[in-house]
Amino acid sequence: MNIKIVEVGPRDGLQNEKIFVPTEQKLAFIDKLLAAGLKHIEVTSFVSPKWVPQMADHHEVMAGIQNKLGYFSALVPNIKGLENALAASTKSIAVFAAASETFSQKNINQSIDQSLAQFKEIITQAKLSNLSIRGYVSCVLGCPYEGDIALKEVEKVARELFNAGCNEISLGDTIGVGTPKKAVAMLNAVAQSVPIENLAVHFHDTYGQALANIYACVQKGIRIIDASCAGLGGCPYAKGASGNVATEEVVYMLEGLGFHTGVSLPQLIEAGNSITQYLNIANRSKVANAMAVQ
Ligand code: HMG
Ligand code: MG
Repeated sequence: MNIKIVEVGPRDGLQNEKIFVPTEQKLAFIDKLLAAGLKHIEVTSFVSPKWVPQMADHHEVMAGIQNKLGYFSALVPNIKGLENALAASTKSIAVFAAASETFSQKNINQSIDQSLAQFKEIITQAKLSNLSIRGYVSCVLGCPYEGDIALKEVEKVARELFNAGCNEISLGDTIGVGTPKKAVAMLNAVAQSVPIENLAVHFHDTYGQALANIYACVQKGIRIIDASCAGLGGCPYAKGASGNVATEEVVYMLEGLGFHTGVSLPQLIEAGNSITQYLNIANRSKVANAMAVQ
């Protein structure tokens, strides 16, 4: 059985890096991810460069991937972001809402309701241009500012984004506080309104729970999983948010369970080693570190 992995390393992985990664390095990283067999890659964000300077080269990154084979997406926070994404020939966008009011304000300077109203407009326009659209819900298992988040809030935001026309809803444990029991309860709540085949899970690994959460969600029928090569990542507007679950760990576990990911682990490890060497940081993937000493 196939599992779709959405590689978010070039976007979620790099967005929090303080030193600007030149476009050619980002493109070289994307090339290595493609060579490893990853097909769905979130490559950049059409957000304000004042808010997230690392993503300021969104036009150049999109120009650089135009002739590559794969499904490339980019975050879009508002109409201006959509206009820029369209001008850069983006084929797939992701809007990003939150289930926490405070996080929504800190992340995009809008209330949840304001953001949903704006995202509906973006989705309508994007559909006219035949874009495929993903909708993120952040803070589905907790918020850095508000703590616990009511499941009905998560379900509501997911439902509104899906009903507005998102093809896929990705449920983000932005600060990685969830545990499997909570993750499954959240999934059950959302699955009342959004078909499980349209749901993705997006776990950060702050508390080391990401793989356990993914395992629990896969048992419930989830077949789309977000991950970041070498465990890169963190959200600048979520204090304490560490990296995403490492793609290497996800591939290793899923292949071990008998799923087909289409990803070559050695080549993925090579991608992770090369970007972490460039960034001069440790590779956070346990699988990569284990295979390095074999
Ligand atoms: P704002 O300051 O409220 O925007 O920011 P504004 O409309 O008042 O405009 C202010 C200035 O920004 C203007 O320029 C606009 O033109 C410009 P000025 O007149 O001052 O020169 N501007 C833009 N420039 C470029 N691109 C744009 C854009 N929009 C306005 N799209 C805004 C509002 C949404 C832009 C800002 O809050 C923002 O960019 N936020 C992005 C935050 C972000 O990227 N967060 C990380 C991604 S989310 C995440 O990581 C979670 C996720 O992984 C899932 C999970 O883990 O849960 C997805
Ligand atoms: Mg994230």
